[in-house]
Amino acid sequence: MAGASSGAAGSATAQEHWSSRWAFIMAAVGSAVGLGNLVRFPAEVGANGGGAFVIFYILCVVLIGLPVLLSETLIGRHGQSSAIESVKNVAAESGASRWWSLAAGVGMIAAFLILTYYSVLAGWIVYFIGIFGSDVAGAIGSGDIGGGALTGRSVEDVQAILPGLQADPATMLVMHAIFMAITVFIVARGVLGGIEKVAVYLMPAFFVLIAGITIYGAFTGAFSSALEFLFAFEPARLLDPTVQLSALGQALFSLSLGSALMITYGAYASRDTNLAKTSAQIASADTSVAIIAGLAIFPIMFAAMAPGVLDAVLAGEEEVQGGLGLLFINLPVAFQSMPAGSLIGFLFFIMVFFAALTSSVSLLEASVSWAKRRFGVSRLSTTLVLGGIAFLIGAWASFSFNSQAEFQPLDFLIFSGQPVFGIIDELTAKIMLPISALLVAIFVGWVADKRLIDSENGLDGGLHKFWRFLIRWLCPLVITAILVSGLFPGLLGQ
Ligand code: TRP
Repeated sequence: MAGASSGAAGSATAQEHWSSRWAFIMAAVGSAVGLGNLVRFPAEVGANGGGAFVIFYILCVVLIGLPVLLSETLIGRHGQSSAIESVKNVAAESGASRWWSLAAGVGMIAAFLILTYYSVLAGWIVYFIGIFGSDVAGAIGSGDIGGGALTGRSVEDVQAILPGLQADPATMLVMHAIFMAITVFIVARGVLGGIEKVAVYLMPAFFVLIAGITIYGAFTGAFSSALEFLFAFEPARLLDPTVQLSALGQALFSLSLGSALMITYGAYASRDTNLAKTSAQIASADTSVAIIAGLAIFPIMFAAMAPGVLDAVLAGEEEVQGGLGLLFINLPVAFQSMPAGSLIGFLFFIMVFFAALTSSVSLLEASVSWAKRRFGVSRLSTTLVLGGIAFLIGAWASFSFNSQAEFQPLDFLIFSGQPVFGIIDELTAKIMLPISALLVAIFVGWVADKRLIDSENGLDGGLHKFWRFLIRWLCPLVITAILVSGLFPGLLGQ
C-alpha cells in the first residue's frame, strides 16, 4: 500500500481539493452518471409509459435539479468541510440554527443506504462482464467474432442468467464483495489519488463507449420506434402524481442531489471555479447520458421484440416489462442475435461498470468525509468500516431476490409489494432525497445570508434573479406538492 500513503496521508481534518476544474467536472459527472442513467432511468421510463415521464423528468432537471445543484455546490465551497459541517459553517455565518445541517444529514444517510443496494446491482454487472468476456475470448479463439453473443445458449438460457444469479446467493455476494472492495480501495486513496484519478480516466472512456454503442444501435436496432417511445407526448400522464414523483425522484437521484454528495464535492472545488457554469455542465452531461442511454438501449431491445408486442408498447397498451431485468435479460437476448453481439455486450457491460464505479465511490465518500472528521480517524479506517457496514446491509437486502422475496415489512404507500431491496430504493429516491433537497432549497433561498450566497454562485443579472426565484419559490413549493401528492395519491380523490 505504499502508493496509497500519499492520498490517504494527512490529518483526518485537512481539506483536500481537486487539482483542476476539469477534474471537478469529471468527478461530479462521474457521480451523476451511473446505474441511475443506465438502469434506473430506462426502467422508470418503461414503467411510467415513456414520453410523459421523459418530459416531466427534463422539467425537473432544469427547474429543480439545476438550481439545487448550484445551491449544494456553493454550500460546500463556502463551508469547506464535510456536507454536515459545511452547512453548519454557512448557517453559523448567517446567524442561523446549526440544525439546518439536518438537510445534509438526511442526505448522507440516503447516500449510504443507496450504496448498499447499488453495489449489489453493480455486482451483477461484474458477473455479466465475466459471462460476455469469456464469450468474447471463446469467439476470438475460434476466429469468429462477427456472430451473435453467447453462442451455444438458447434464448431461454440467456433469459435464465439473471434469475440464476439471483437464486445463487453465494455468487451474488462474491460479486457484491468484489465491487465494494474496489470502491473502498479507491475512496481510501483519497480525493486526489483515488476519486479524481478514477474519474479522469474512466469518464472519457465511458463517453467513447456510449457513443460507439449508440451509433451501433442506431444502425442495427429499431431506432425510430425508440424515438417514438421516448418522446411520445401524452398530456394525461403528465398530470399523474405517481409519474411526477417518479420523475422528481429520478432527477434528484440521477444528479446525485439531496444526498450530501454535491455539497461534499463542492467543498473540494477551488475558489476560482464558476459554480453556476460548472453546475450547468454537470446537469447537461448527466441528462444527455440518460437520453442517450435510452436511445442506445431501447432500439437494441425493440429490435428483438415480437412485432405485436412492440406495437402494443408503442400504443401505450403494454408496459415495457422488466424493471431491472431490462438490462440484464432483454438486452443480452438482443445481443445474442446481433452482429458481433458478444463483443458489443462485453463493451456495454464494461461501460456500465465504469459509470457505476465513479458513482459508488461518491456514495461512499459522502459519509467518509464526515465520519473521518467526526471521529478523528484516518481515511483508510473510516472507509473500511463504512464500506464493510454497507456491504453487510446490501448482502442482507440481496436476499430480497430469493429467500426473503415474501418479506415485505412496509406494506403501505409506495412500499406495498416491495421487498427490502425495493423499499430502500423507494425510501431513498422518493422520500429522503426530495426532503433533503427541499431543506437545501429553503436554507439557501430563505435562511442563509444573501451576500454570502451571492458571492459564491457565479451568477448575475436576469439569470441571478431567475435562479433566486426558482430556489425560493418554485423548488420548495413544487417539491412539497409532488412529495405529498405522490405519496398520498388518494388525497387528490383518485
Ligand atoms: N447519480 C448516480 C446515478 O445516477 C447515483 C448516485 C451517486 C447517487 N451518488 C449519489 C444518487 C448520491 C443519490 C445520491 O447512478
